[in-house]
Amino acid sequence: MKIADNVFWVGVVDWNVRDFHGYSTVYGTSYNAYLVKDEKVVLIDTVKFGFEDELLEKLEELTDKIDYLVVNHIEMDHAGAVKAVLEKYPEAKIITNARGKKGLKDAYGIEKDIEVVKTGDRLKIGKQELTFIEMPMVHWPDSMATYLAEQKILFPNDAFGMHYASSKIIDSEFDNEELERVFFEAAKYYANIVLPYSQQVKKVLGELKKIDIEMICPSHGIIWRDNVEKIVRKYEEWSNGRAERKVVIAYDSMWGYTEKALKKIIEGIEEVGVPYRIYKLRASDYTEVMAEVMQSKGLIVGSPTLNREIFPSVAAFLTYMKGLKPFNKIAAAFGSYGWSGEAVGKIVGVFEELKFEVVGAIRFRFSSDEKSEELKELGRKLAEKL
Ligand code: FEO
Repeated sequence: MKIADNVFWVGVVDWNVRDFHGYSTVYGTSYNAYLVKDEKVVLIDTVKFGFEDELLEKLEELTDKIDYLVVNHIEMDHAGAVKAVLEKYPEAKIITNARGKKGLKDAYGIEKDIEVVKTGDRLKIGKQELTFIEMPMVHWPDSMATYLAEQKILFPNDAFGMHYASSKIIDSEFDNEELERVFFEAAKYYANIVLPYSQQVKKVLGELKKIDIEMICPSHGIIWRDNVEKIVRKYEEWSNGRAERKVVIAYDSMWGYTEKALKKIIEGIEEVGVPYRIYKLRASDYTEVMAEVMQSKGLIVGSPTLNREIFPSVAAFLTYMKGLKPFNKIAAAFGSYGWSGEAVGKIVGVFEELKFEVVGAIRFRFSSDEKSEELKELGRKLAEKL
């Protein structure tokens, strides 16, 4: 599919993947690869292993040679078909950075004919030129972007991407409703993949400010053409921990006492008029909850105590969340207990590790009836702080 002058999308759509190394891909995903034709023919990234034939078929229709294979990222969903491409186009020279070179050797045993580049290096491919920008930890140490200056196209691999399978590839083809879904998926992707590396994202955004970008072609999901400014602005917000004035309440309950207490907290939030979303964690997709956590200023976590611990579904979510290092949150905890009641204190411990501002923590023995007013006040206080 042609996406610009002599630039083609040659990726594949993975409609049916629902679990991407633990990340729930509700809408499937795509592995985007791009072919740039000039005097030299350049393939930018490949696809996930298992989809090699589909990529090779597309290449065959467009070219009988590949001069350069740019490996922006060695993760298996993008470099999984490098070997297959090299078998078919043995003349192709690999372009990657030093960490990419090491990764290609360690992960795939590929050592042949690799040209190592670093930020600012350029490669003349005819009338046009490619520039490389290293983006360590966005998403892996080897991550890199490639920029086609003449057409102002950025190929940033994972950055600005989302897991979203579609028969359409460019944002201008989407209506507002679908675009909203796409932006949510981009947020979900950031929250679950990129969030721990927000400091590095800020550096990369600084680098990107130096170049003019009219099209962003990520390695997953759709191509940004009409919404370049908006997605870059979103990355600025997310990497700076800016969030909306809303609350996520993530909880679980054994016999309904924690759930009942939640109703009182909500009354308090409603009095202030702040929107909220509730997730019972045994029935929720953690990756979706994380997307909401990242985009919300407030977080309330509720858990009963089970065997002196946080209830398992809540503990699992907190472990997952802690690894993603959300920041700049205003938080509260609550939960019922039968006799020892450690859960609430342990939740607060997680909040403190993440340097959240904790506005309160309430625990109650079985019923929360005696603490109804206190719970309502907790909801009100947190909402007022947002
Ligand atoms: Fe889409 Fe980090 O791979």
